[in-house]
Amino acid sequence: MQKENSNEKKIGLLIKQSFEDLEKEKIQIIRKKYLEKNGIISQSLQKISQEKDLERKKKLGILINNWKKNLIEKVNFLEREKHKKEENSEKENLIDIYLEGKKIPLGNLHPINQIIEKICDILNPLGYKFIESPEIENEEYNFNKLNIPPNHPARDMHDTFYLNNQLLLRTHTSNAQIRLMEKYPNQEIKIISAGKVYRRDEDDATHTHQFTQLEGFAVGKDINFSSLKRTIELILKKLFGKEHPIRFRPSYFPFTEPSVEVDAQCIPCQGKGCNICKKTGWVEILGAGLIHPQVLKNCDFDSQKFTGFAFGLGIERLLMIKYGIEDIRNFYSNNIRFLRQFSER
Ligand code: FA5
Repeated sequence: MQKENSNEKKIGLLIKQSFEDLEKEKIQIIRKKYLEKNGIISQSLQKISQEKDLERKKKLGILINNWKKNLIEKVNFLEREKHKKEENSEKENLIDIYLEGKKIPLGNLHPINQIIEKICDILNPLGYKFIESPEIENEEYNFNKLNIPPNHPARDMHDTFYLNNQLLLRTHTSNAQIRLMEKYPNQEIKIISAGKVYRRDEDDATHTHQFTQLEGFAVGKDINFSSLKRTIELILKKLFGKEHPIRFRPSYFPFTEPSVEVDAQCIPCQGKGCNICKKTGWVEILGAGLIHPQVLKNCDFDSQKFTGFAFGLGIERLLMIKYGIEDIRNFYSNNIRFLRQFSER
């Protein structure tokens, strides 16, 4: 009985020791120490093989085999866990240098701004500077000083959004002329200004209540109609190509004398007539003329010594014929597929 107890006790201590070792030692060491051919478990089995008492031998055998089974299970479990951990940390550190990077979609300038930049690039080398002019304007600069007094019929065509009795959303970019000439009386000036303008026009395929104009003007001592014509031709030929037909038509603006309107032949239909050009083969893109002497006087210029020209371009119309866009409202619909077509990359 005593021997039985002491054998069981010894094996019990070994079992306890093996599981304590598992916590401290490496798995390979445990395998070697306990589970290999000459390990403690095999030695223990050998020892009990000499046991004469079959009942006791069986009991000790079951104890040792359970020990072996539990230890193997635990060792395998720990090994699997270790592998998993290693794999995860490998994955974390893994950088596949051949993987395509995440693409960050880049936007592009709105076509309206692109064409403004192009016109600036054409005119900058000729000495034109870009200036901002206010979108909220007073009657003086939008109308009166441009020779459009109250009750002048030309105001009807610009009938607009008034903020109060004095302030309104500008109806054209010609306010820039007055602001600059007032600032630099009797000096030579070459300016471009562009931005939004507003009119109470009914929206349709070629009109919007808010659109974009680019104003160019030059004041100096030897400016005449041919300087104006050359400048306009230069811009339009650079934008549409040298051979592209354009035409000058006499027109009327209260702030220029003489005045013209310029049409470009409709590109999409090549002058045959389509919806964009309203079946005429031509699209009106700008108004222009020599600055009226009264306007020069309104800005304290000596109209005997100074002359000037000015032109006001409708940017959307220009884009419509250049790219064959049938409806001006496309520019304001925020349709990303429409805008991406103007990506410069
Ligand atoms: C003017 O606005 C004058 N200030 C232009 C000017 C400047 C004349 C300097 C002389 C000297 P007009 O109203 O024609 O002119 O407009 C100029 C251009 O803007 C037109 O040729 C057209 O291309 C464009 N435009 C006019 N109304 C609209 C509209 N509702 N929607 C889109 N584009 C328009």
